[in-house]
Amino acid sequence: MKLGIVGGGQLAQMMVQAAISLGIDVAILASTSDSSAPRYVYSTTIAKEFDKEHLQHFVDSCDFVTFDHEVIDADILRSIDGYKEKIFPTPDTLELSSRKAKCRRLMAEIGLPTPKFEIATNFDELRTSISNIGLPVIVKSSFGGYDGRGVFEVKDANDLASLKGTLPEIFEVVIEEFIEIEKELSIIVVRDKDANVRSYPLLETLQQRQMCSEVYYPVHVSEQIEAKSREIAEAAANAVASVGVLAVELFLTKSGDVIINELAPRPHNSGHLTIEAMATSQFENHIRAVCSLPIGSVEPLFAAATMVNLVGIADNLDQDEGRRRAIGYEDVHLHLYGKENRDGRKIGHITVTGKDQGATLETSRMARDAFLGTTS
Ligand SMILES: Nc1ncnc2c1ncn2[C@@H]1O[C@H](COP(=O)(O)OP(=O)(O)OP(=O)(O)O)[C@@H](O)[C@H]1O
Ligand SMILES: [Mg+2]
Repeated sequence: MKLGIVGGGQLAQMMVQAAISLGIDVAILASTSDSSAPRYVYSTTIAKEFDKEHLQHFVDSCDFVTFDHEVIDADILRSIDGYKEKIFPTPDTLELSSRKAKCRRLMAEIGLPTPKFEIATNFDELRTSISNIGLPVIVKSSFGGYDGRGVFEVKDANDLASLKGTLPEIFEVVIEEFIEIEKELSIIVVRDKDANVRSYPLLETLQQRQMCSEVYYPVHVSEQIEAKSREIAEAAANAVASVGVLAVELFLTKSGDVIINELAPRPHNSGHLTIEAMATSQFENHIRAVCSLPIGSVEPLFAAATMVNLVGIADNLDQDEGRRRAIGYEDVHLHLYGKENRDGRKIGHITVTGKDQGATLETSRMARDAFLGTTS
């Protein structure tokens, strides 16, 4: 069996690891050879643009095709011969879950809780929406943002003026109320082509500079909140007819409500700890569902697990030395993405599993600091 992955970053790299054990060959279609996964795969096609011709050729050469990112035109995917049999998540799922405006509308339509929001496609509408919702607001580009790029907090007229300078000529943004967040939560849902659904245990994420920095299992919330989160996440997966993994980012608000932040139709940073901490990793389950194979158990294997991202620093970083120092700590599972160090760039992560959450967190932070040569 041959699986094609559009995109060659760390998510593709970790899918490749899972594919190896399943005996599935992987081909990559990437815009640059200088990314994480191409070093490890059967074949890589480099295409500056993912146009119809490149995609059709790629799809023809694979049994199934999936993605490691969602910055791809759903209309082009729908123009590919054989897309209905081969491409998962489907172009519809991709569009409904990753275009923030479409996603917000759909979630609201089916009655799932979202922040109060409006959608704007020009600056006058944006101004009106901001006054309807009331400052402070969060403004998000509908398409193409990640790791907080494309997310702007607008507290006052100055923020609004600087936002005007950064928005492209043609845009679509979601304007939403600023939520007082108690915890950021995530549920990874895997859904197969027969609509069987399994959702991993609830996870908590910590964001720094609007980017995920740490993930914790278990989450210390009531059973009701856990059940509510799961109900929302599975309903969202069914609503977008997800095939493969769908990450559902949730906010637990200070007033105790669970609301949807966003969906990502692919393995997700919050789910990296599933590699060591759960019976089947999110990467393996994604591949299984995409390749029409039975999906696997999502049960936890440990009482506690922590994941910390390795985020590049402004100073020089010797990753060979960092590797030696980080894995000197017992129980550390290191994942490096083969990326050059750059300030603010995710270059790897560390997972620690164990019996005690405090201890796993302490070890993972020490190993991170040792890798980066920093102190926290
Ligand atoms: N309505 C809101 N109120 C308060 N904080 C918010 C709101 N929306 C987003 N945030 C903060 O900004 C972060 C990034 O927002 P969001 O997840 O929508 O963007 P993203 O760039 O697509 O994220 P990702 O890093 O998951 O790709 C959230 O994790 C949260 O910390
Ligand atoms: Mg997010």
